[in-house]
Amino acid sequence: TTPLRLGIAGLGTVGVGIVKIVQKHATLLETRAGRPIVISAVSARSKDKDRGVDLSGYAWENDPVDLAKRDDIDLFIEVMGGHEGPAKDATIAAINAGKDVVSANKALLAIHGQALAESAEMAGRVIRFEAAVAGGIPVVKALTEGLAGNGISRVMGVMNGSCNYILTRMENAGLSYEAVFEEANNLGYLEADPELDVGGIDAGHKLAILAAIAFGTQVDFEAVELEGIGAVTIEDIHQAADMGYKIKLLGVAQMTGRGLEQRMSPCLVPDTSPLGQLEGGTNMVVLEGDAVGQIVLRGPGAGEGPTASAVMGDVMDIARGLRMSTFGQPAKTLRNARAARAAVS
Ligand code: NAP
Ligand code: HSE
Repeated sequence: TTPLRLGIAGLGTVGVGIVKIVQKHATLLETRAGRPIVISAVSARSKDKDRGVDLSGYAWENDPVDLAKRDDIDLFIEVMGGHEGPAKDATIAAINAGKDVVSANKALLAIHGQALAESAEMAGRVIRFEAAVAGGIPVVKALTEGLAGNGISRVMGVMNGSCNYILTRMENAGLSYEAVFEEANNLGYLEADPELDVGGIDAGHKLAILAAIAFGTQVDFEAVELEGIGAVTIEDIHQAADMGYKIKLLGVAQMTGRGLEQRMSPCLVPDTSPLGQLEGGTNMVVLEGDAVGQIVLRGPGAGEGPTASAVMGDVMDIARGLRMSTFGQPAKTLRNARAARAAVS
């Protein structure tokens, strides 16, 4: 049987997690996919860094764009990060070179996801990104597969573990925002640019991606009303607790008479509710469908194993020949674009 040959761009937390799964579960993956899953080539900034995994059997590329174009890969995995530069360039190069793409990069997808999905569709390729939203929780699959027969009325949730850690730590230890922010930063919980976390931007990226899937709209991060947690004080948290509430950085997307509303902001939630009970770095996503009612998904939103788990779910789908596009809109957009072109030609 023909193996599925992977090229992995990025060997940090997530990339190393993927290498570990492919190496540890080679037989299991082959049995489940019906074909071997093999890594052909990898790329990162530093070739000499000890990453705690054996990379000797894989070709090395210094430039992820060169990796994306290699003849000996079928699937390009982008786990570098950043919404411009190498991540974007290499993803476009991969699509143009006829490769499918799996990405964990929520910033790239929230900002360029629509264009990338359309390019992939035109090239007959797929781009999948389960890991970009809520890490290890298979929420994209829940929406696109398990809930495919539902009209979705609302998606909401806590989608940034670092903010949830900060808020619950303030609450449990009675510490100020500033003290816990510093602690979280020292523990390495925050992004290199912490404003991505505490400003609600990272969670806003995830909400925009999820909303586009849930409502079949174009990904529109600019339309997300964003407010981070930087202004939440310990007094706010105590007052909320006195009334039986917790403060959570909550994302809500729903279709209204005025169109799609997307909001990511600190909200009061009842302390006995599933969202109110959510502690530490965990994520929770609540999905509401007209047939199923309410579904609550809870789990690790970040980290080596959980994020690599989600990436591998997409890899396995592609290995099995599942080629559906995750965003619902591109096909329609393309049909409209073709019709418009036909009308003027
Ligand atoms: P990371 O630990 O910082 O690793 C990034 C990797 O990309 C590193 O191996 C780095 O190389 C490589 N890289 C960066 N710029 C490069 C370039 N110009 N050329 C080649 N390689 C380059 O990041 P991560 O935590 O694994 O995250 C990767 C992606 O997954 C990001 O989009 C992130 O948002 C997303 N994600 C992460 C998590 C998580 O829990 N970590 C969860 C969900 C989604 P060097 O190692 O040589 O520096
Ligand atoms: N900074 C993100 C978080 C990482 O705290 O949830 C996972 O996307």
